[in-house]
Amino acid sequence: MKTQNNFIPRQLSKDEKIPYNLLLLADETIEAIEKYIFNSDLFIVEQGDEVIAIYALYVLNKDEIEIKNIAVSEAYQGQGIGRLLLQGAANKARERGFKTLLIGTPDSAIKQLKIYQKAGFEMFGVKKRFFIENYPEPIFENGVQLEDMVMLRKLLQ
Ligand code: ACO
Repeated sequence: MKTQNNFIPRQLSKDEKIPYNLLLLADETIEAIEKYIFNSDLFIVEQGDEVIAIYALYVLNKDEIEIKNIAVSEAYQGQGIGRLLLQGAANKARERGFKTLLIGTPDSAIKQLKIYQKAGFEMFGVKKRFFIENYPEPIFENGVQLEDMVMLRKLLQ
């Protein structure tokens, strides 16, 4: 797998346009995204004028911070950028003094679970019925209705 060195994330400033097209790859609705996005720090990767990857860091408390959204544009997936974003998020969280980095994903999202585990995250809990109670319509992915969210964490210190 090739990993290119020029995929360096930078923080999006508050007056820049939020790339919802990318965020919508990782979350179902604008309404769901807007529950966390305005209180998150956003980090983007650009190629020329195009934003090709993003992650959103949301502070839970003085020790814990969560990646609420992580997405790589379809044309750039599978090139190691997601792995770089996860490393970047862990480094950023550690620099800021957080002890634990969290991430959640549907229990049926096998590919994402594998990527997070490879990046050093371990499963520690399940938010039962998360996708039923937090979204207005049922969400189906690959014919499976999303119900529970698996929570993973990476210890930083
Ligand atoms: N199946 C299994 N493993 C895979 C797959 C796959 N289809 N694709 C990549 N991997 C492995 C790679 O081999 C790699 O392992 P390595 O580090 O040992 O080489 C690892 O996963 C990371 O691969 P990357 O190429 O870095 O992943 P990518 O750049 O594609 O980013 C991401 C992963 C962010 C999940 C991307 O595919 C994406 O944007 N998907 C759509 C949006 C999404 O599902 N986001 C997560 C939702 S949950 C949330 O946001 C909190």
